[in-house]
Amino acid sequence: MSEAKRLAGEKAIDYVEDGMVVGVGTGSTVAYFIDALAALKDRIAGAVSSSEQSTARLKSHGIDVLDLNATGPLHLYVDGADECDPHKRLIKGGGAALTREKIIAEASTKFVCIIDPAKRVDVLGRFPLPIEVIPMARSLVARQILSTTGGQPVWREGVVTDNGNWVLDIHHLSITDPVGLERELNQIPGVVSVGLFARRPADVVIVGGEPPILL
Ligand code: 5RP
Repeated sequence: MSEAKRLAGEKAIDYVEDGMVVGVGTGSTVAYFIDALAALKDRIAGAVSSSEQSTARLKSHGIDVLDLNATGPLHLYVDGADECDPHKRLIKGGGAALTREKIIAEASTKFVCIIDPAKRVDVLGRFPLPIEVIPMARSLVARQILSTTGGQPVWREGVVTDNGNWVLDIHHLSITDPVGLERELNQIPGVVSVGLFARRPADVVIVGGEPPILL
């Protein structure tokens, strides 16, 4: 499977243009993208990173990591996903970086998502939906999600996000209205962000393979 991730990550280099600030996601597929980006480091202006993990990898290659507040809007964001439906709507957050990922996706004109074939689904929800929560709201949010969606929230115990928050993973959802569910879950006090990327889906999806498939 890592071969498919490598092929997807390397294909995303096609979207990088000279002088760009590149938005960079998080995860094992993105790690291949970062490693390939290293070869272009003197031709790009730098990167905006979605996690401490990606920041460390970017810096290890000598790629400048910039503040989104200073760069303004980005032309390109490259990130992985845990699930992708035929409309390029995604579940993300398996690596607990969903909030910063969502911020950079929103700030970017083109979101290129890089996945291996196992991430493709007809209906989102087989992968437990990650939700970043303010710690004191964990049980409140869990109760509300249980009563409104019927999904089973499980606390990802021991995991603290880069923002100092906690993660709930919602099991047993069949997400037939991803935009509606994203909107509904975002209303619960204490929810920082929802790992559904439906209102702002990917623009291009690269499925790693020989050759890679573009959706
Ligand atoms: C991190 C993410 C990742 O993009 C997602 O978990 C996919 O990771 P990988 O490329 O390792 O399969 O959303 O928060």
